[in-house]
Amino acid sequence: MSLEIVILAAGKGTRMRSEVPKVLHDLGGQPLLWHVLNCAWQLAPDVVHVVYGHGGDAVPAAFPDAPVDWIHQSPQHGTGHALRLALPRVRAARVLVMYGDVPLIRPDTLRALCNGDKALNILTATFTDPFGYGRILRDTDGVPVGIVEDKDASPEQLKSKDINTGFLAASTAALNRWLDHIDNDNRQGEYYLTDVVAVAVAEGASLGDVQAQDPSEALGVNSKRELVDMERRLQRRRVQALLEDGVVVRDAARLDIRGECIVGTDCVLDINVVLEGRVELGDRVHVGANTIVRDSVIESDCVIHANCVIEGARVGPGARVGPFARLRPETVVGRDARIGNFVEIKKSTLGTGSKANHLAYVGDSTVGRHVNIGAGVITCNYDGANKHQTIIGDEAFIGSNSQLVAPVTVGARATIGAGSTISSDAPPDALTLSRSKQRTVRGWQRPLKKPASK
Ligand code: UD1
Ligand code: CA
Repeated sequence: MSLEIVILAAGKGTRMRSEVPKVLHDLGGQPLLWHVLNCAWQLAPDVVHVVYGHGGDAVPAAFPDAPVDWIHQSPQHGTGHALRLALPRVRAARVLVMYGDVPLIRPDTLRALCNGDKALNILTATFTDPFGYGRILRDTDGVPVGIVEDKDASPEQLKSKDINTGFLAASTAALNRWLDHIDNDNRQGEYYLTDVVAVAVAEGASLGDVQAQDPSEALGVNSKRELVDMERRLQRRRVQALLEDGVVVRDAARLDIRGECIVGTDCVLDINVVLEGRVELGDRVHVGANTIVRDSVIESDCVIHANCVIEGARVGPGARVGPFARLRPETVVGRDARIGNFVEIKKSTLGTGSKANHLAYVGDSTVGRHVNIGAGVITCNYDGANKHQTIIGDEAFIGSNSQLVAPVTVGARATIGAGSTISSDAPPDALTLSRSKQRTVRGWQRPLKKPASK
């Protein structure tokens, strides 16, 4: 049966105490709404409609390429009002309603919700701490007959841990009809979508509920405290998935995955590793403590030592990086290369087996194979206005503390004497150096410290 989904995401999120629309707050490297959209698409719906409003176009702008039918709700008069605006756009006979601030919801749970043939099927959960959630009212057979919001509930009703998750699947035509009968006569002066349950019951419609097996997937984010709590839950889920794939994670509570990560076999991730954006690790990759890898590919058998920051880079098989190295965007490190401590590489390619083991800056450069870059070497790529290229041929040796003033080419197998400033091309197979001649002043005396004056 064809399915359309409406996601409600227009609310202000007053309790977040933020200028940022609630559904754009970051969870695991993506906006809250991204997680809900991602779950929605896994159900293969015909159309996903999203009701947005607070924060204006910022919400659609955050998802420029998403195949979404955006519906504007302004002002926001409640979840019932939001759905009322969306329903005329729904053509399918059945509609699934999702809330944009409930990010851990699982597709399987929603499949179970959509499978029922009841005119209205609601997703419920049992929460040990139900504070803030709507409570389910049931008849003696346990069939839902209404939902009362936390703010409107009696002390007796507040004791119930049987909560409304907000998700529901229903006949589109019936929902439309029921929404005609709800009002805003409540503590918040809003049109509550939850009131359709009582309206449906009054009409004699068939009703049912599905219980979320894992209550945490039904948790909403309404405050910063809940957002932080949700982040830990999401991270636990992601780390769990890695462990199931056979990755060794030194401490499951000290790995953060803020994006998508693809990991090969027998990888080891030490403590306080942060993987951001799209990260790909080959087989047998070791990532040391306190290292951040963002939007990068680390190929098989690489060792990334502690305290590295790697962004937008590709590290070839068997390479070693760090400790304390920084690879910036558009860096390609070749097979078995070595990048040591306090080395920064930007927008450069290093060939197979090349080494920059200590204290170097390589920027806008093409470095051949088996090149040795000594300690303190700097490619001077910036003249204050423009960036220039440095090209270093295969098997060149750049002596320590040399500056290569770009644009400049060092030929294959060339040697640059330590301490040189190379501002024109150095030919291949030769020693090039620019160094003032050493001299010795004999009999020279060191100055003596003067006695302190009173
Ligand atoms: C809502 C439910 C409550 C349920 C809880 C589950 C209602 C009236 N209450 O309460 O029973 O236990 O979710 O998480 O539905 N929104 C709009 N337009 C509006 C108002 C809200 O699109 O005018 C969106 C929000 O952006 C949010 C969702 O609807 O994504 C829920 O709104 P929120 O204000 O968070 O409702 P809760 O008080 O959490
Ligand atoms: Ca909410």
